[in-house]
Amino acid sequence: MSHVPDLGPDFVWGAATSAYQIEGAVAEDGRGPSIWDTFCQVPGAVDNGDTGEVACDHYHRWREDIGLMRRLGLDAYRFSIAWPRVLPTGTGRANPPGLDFYDRLVDGLLEAGIRPFATLYHWDLPQALQDRGGWANRDTAFHLAEFAAVVAARLGDRVTDWFTINEPLCSAWIGHLEGRMAPGLTDITLAVPAAHHLLLGHGLAAAALRNVATGPARVGAVLNLSPCEPAGPGEPDVAAAPPADGHTNRWWLDPLHGRGYPADMVEVYGVDPPVRAGDLEAIAAPMDHLGLNYYFRQVVTDDPDGPIPYARMVSVPDGQQTAMGWEVHPDGLEELLLRLSDDYHAARIYVTENGSAWPDEVLPDGQIEDKERMSYLEQHLAAGIRATRGGAPLAGYFVWSLLDNFEWAYGYAKRFGLIHVDYATQRRTIKASGYRYADIIRAHKLGQRATESVPG
Ligand code: FCB
Repeated sequence: MSHVPDLGPDFVWGAATSAYQIEGAVAEDGRGPSIWDTFCQVPGAVDNGDTGEVACDHYHRWREDIGLMRRLGLDAYRFSIAWPRVLPTGTGRANPPGLDFYDRLVDGLLEAGIRPFATLYHWDLPQALQDRGGWANRDTAFHLAEFAAVVAARLGDRVTDWFTINEPLCSAWIGHLEGRMAPGLTDITLAVPAAHHLLLGHGLAAAALRNVATGPARVGAVLNLSPCEPAGPGEPDVAAAPPADGHTNRWWLDPLHGRGYPADMVEVYGVDPPVRAGDLEAIAAPMDHLGLNYYFRQVVTDDPDGPIPYARMVSVPDGQQTAMGWEVHPDGLEELLLRLSDDYHAARIYVTENGSAWPDEVLPDGQIEDKERMSYLEQHLAAGIRATRGGAPLAGYFVWSLLDNFEWAYGYAKRFGLIHVDYATQRRTIKASGYRYADIIRAHKLGQRATESVPG
């Protein structure tokens, strides 16, 4: 893959991270605790007892990290803004040093010619809000909008590309139903309200960003989606695909696109989302862009006695799996991009996360020859390009992740970075996949320039 003519000259090449996964400095400069600080203290909740206390120490090493982004030739960087740094108790008075950090980061990025893509909520809810019910409490949606307004007042003259919430599926379902992520709850009567309030928070925060930012503000939500396919042609497998698809995809896509909550899923959950007058309109306000995080497809079988949504993922024989146990299935990316374009008429889509964890080996010379990650990257980019040929408005691609980092309940054991982090020394080393990505970006730009210089 050298020159990729299907991606126009404005195509955005980036990499992504999130605050709790890289920043560390959890008790510095007035930051308040988040639900992930709390969850990390629960015995057995996170592999190896790891926490985000130090992570990649990006809070202190951000200049070096911007230097690495430059070496990769990135156009853009997607990061998240820690709510508990900006509003330590989630609401009320802003904490100036918290805002100052992101102010410096944004200036540093712009000086380096890198466009900031900021996410407001990447799972680090201030613990003080959890103490008042968290996402199951409707007020949290309004507090997210307050946070959005505070951030936009400070950064909205320079940041033009925004995402409100990241992967509400994980916050609602994994955090409130499966209990494998903060806040670690397992109650569908809390999970459904949490889902609704996350979406409402998106709508209210989008409006706040647009109202307060003094520059242009392009806003959207980030969803993690998976094609859901029956494991076999038999009835029990075929019957499992719609609830899996409803739980993973339609529950989020439908209300965001003005279709309300899917009735079949309300029935599966047995809980009505607590919708009040005006909520669905706020949620469905048109987005400037949609962020798609893609990692794997779901091949499912019926599981009537299992957990909600009564469809269980099975592993695919002969499928290649990453260190997360996720099947490598690039066609799923093409399929989702086309679905967003054909069925939901998405105006502009960014792949806001795509990447893979592997058991990286550091060679005696210090280098990391991560061939599997390289091939994963190439195959998924190729799938994205195929989708553009089918008409999908793909505007950019962000690798997950810039750096190895704190992979939530898996701690530091799972490495997704284009850049290796030695956590003992905080030394960063660009992996072979990072160099490959830099080559792809460079080749694309040279190709574009060559095309532009062809007369006529
Ligand atoms: C996504 C998250 C991101 C990272 C990747 C591997 O679900 O948004 O923070 O953990 O998975």
